[in-house]
Amino acid sequence: MSTGTSTPTQERPAQRTGLRLDSITYVNTRTLLDDVSVAFPAGKVTALSGPSGSGKTTLLSIAGGLLEPTSGTAKLDGRPVWTGSGDPLPAVAFVLQVYGLVPILSARENVSIALRARGAAPADADEAAEAALARFGIADLGERQVEELSGGQMQRVACARGFVVAADVLLADEPTSELDEGNRAVVLAELREEAARGAVVVVATHDPAVVEACDLHIALDEGRVVR
Ligand SMILES: Nc1ncnc2c1ncn2[C@@H]1O[C@H](COP(=O)(O)OP(=O)(O)O)[C@@H](O)[C@H]1O
Ligand SMILES: [Mg+2]
Repeated sequence: MSTGTSTPTQERPAQRTGLRLDSITYVNTRTLLDDVSVAFPAGKVTALSGPSGSGKTTLLSIAGGLLEPTSGTAKLDGRPVWTGSGDPLPAVAFVLQVYGLVPILSARENVSIALRARGAAPADADEAAEAALARFGIADLGERQVEELSGGQMQRVACARGFVVAADVLLADEPTSELDEGNRAVVLAELREEAARGAVVVVATHDPAVVEACDLHIALDEGRVVR
């Protein structure tokens, strides 16, 4: 993206300030997030840690525009991420905790549809999907129906689908929970690659080894930021 000095003011791209959450509170039957203010900068991998039930998935859902906060604002480069519908911005990609894969489609199709949904031609999308599966060491599983895969294999397909779109923001919800050490290292290296090309990368985890491998660390407990 050019930021040349001759760009007229109204066409100048928004400043890359990353993803900022200000005073986010989320209440349904009880308060799940309580006055959370955090910044997730572009070009860094931020760990979002906390025990099960501490609000990590809820926070990622708000950060990605899936869920409207009860109060407070979530903005990407200064623009609200909540669009009024629960549809995330095209600039945001997720690796969902429960994978969100289509069981009867193949691994390659599950990855390819993320690109097709963003307007890519099917042949191009399929080719990119193959490459994304290869990043996670599962190129040989492209033809397999997802419902035949193990939990760890599904998790790697979900990673491929989240990473394939090269989004400005990648929100990965416990992406290594089912993986052995070797595959965990692969996912961590790929998360770092995404940050290196300038993406905002957030990884929810309760694994200290994952936290250790990240640039920044935010910890939640009972819906509050504790570090
Ligand atoms: N739709 C919902 N309705 C009621 N409670 C919910 C809902 N979603 C999550 N919770 C509760 O909110 C808390 C935070 O959940 P979550 O954000 O999934 O935490 P984490 O990802 O850290 O495990 C948990 O106690 C969970 O049971
Ligand atoms: Mg969770």
